[in-house]
Amino acid sequence: MLRFEVFEWTPYERAHSTSFMRISVRMFGDIHIEDRERFATPARSAPNMALEVSCGSAGQRRVMATAGRQTERPVGAQAYLPEAVDDLDELRRAAAQCHGCDLYRPATQTVFGEGPPGASLLMVGEQPGDQEDRQGEPFVGPAGHVLDQAMERAGIDRRQVYVTNAVKHFKWVPQGSRRLHKTPSAREVAACRPWLHAEIAAVRPRIVLCLGAVAAKALFGPSFLVSTERGKVHEPPDGPLLPGRPLLAATVHPSSILRAGQDRHEQMERFVADLAAVATRLGA
Ligand code: URA
Ligand code: SF4
Repeated sequence: MLRFEVFEWTPYERAHSTSFMRISVRMFGDIHIEDRERFATPARSAPNMALEVSCGSAGQRRVMATAGRQTERPVGAQAYLPEAVDDLDELRRAAAQCHGCDLYRPATQTVFGEGPPGASLLMVGEQPGDQEDRQGEPFVGPAGHVLDQAMERAGIDRRQVYVTNAVKHFKWVPQGSRRLHKTPSAREVAACRPWLHAEIAAVRPRIVLCLGAVAAKALFGPSFLVSTERGKVHEPPDGPLLPGRPLLAATVHPSSILRAGQDRHEQMERFVADLAAVATRLGA
């Protein structure tokens, strides 16, 4: 037998008709639910309650069991945002618990943004890759190395930049023993966008640079074309304003340079030029 102890109990009753329960448990030798009263009380007010039992450390979490019914789709990240959205540490702690869409299930951990709170440049990638998922930090794998090289050549100090992703969990499909990156859907990007907006609100950058189409569409809208707009610095679009109204720019994703064949060198030159244009604007 396995035994679990509930140590965190968080009902979510926001604007949604369904209440979701997030229950974290610690694992012991055998399963044994002692506090039946606490389980019974929210169940009366939350008829669609779904219970999920997961265990392990943040880096090794596994879903052990689910029970109950969850008759509505996951609610998105909004329900997991803390009250104080301008505190990066608090955001990071809250995002570590996010179940706003199904991508948290096969992933190892939430990969939140990294960088100084007052950074004037905020870069947004697509989603963590295999290495990032294991290490818990953005852009530390092969695409990150390309980004590091290009930044150095463009005269941008990565330590001064806040680097994050449009989606905070690694989406993958198995291929043999490898985990193959799978592009997140528009729905998943939308579910995760509250974290990105909160990061922008907390960091207050002067420029947000989108790396690749997924990040660019997340912030500019679905019809944005990186191929024609790359390297330009745009006023923020109309519509729901980005916190602090940062300027917006976009370029390709560094992994496109890894995939480029013959013209890899030329692609890298263009990528460096796009970063340099942003650096010039920051310095102006
Ligand atoms: N690709 C991304 O978009 N982000 C990462 O953090 C790593 C690879
Ligand atoms: Fe939450 Fe984003 Fe992860 Fe989905 S991908 S569970 S919204 S942090």
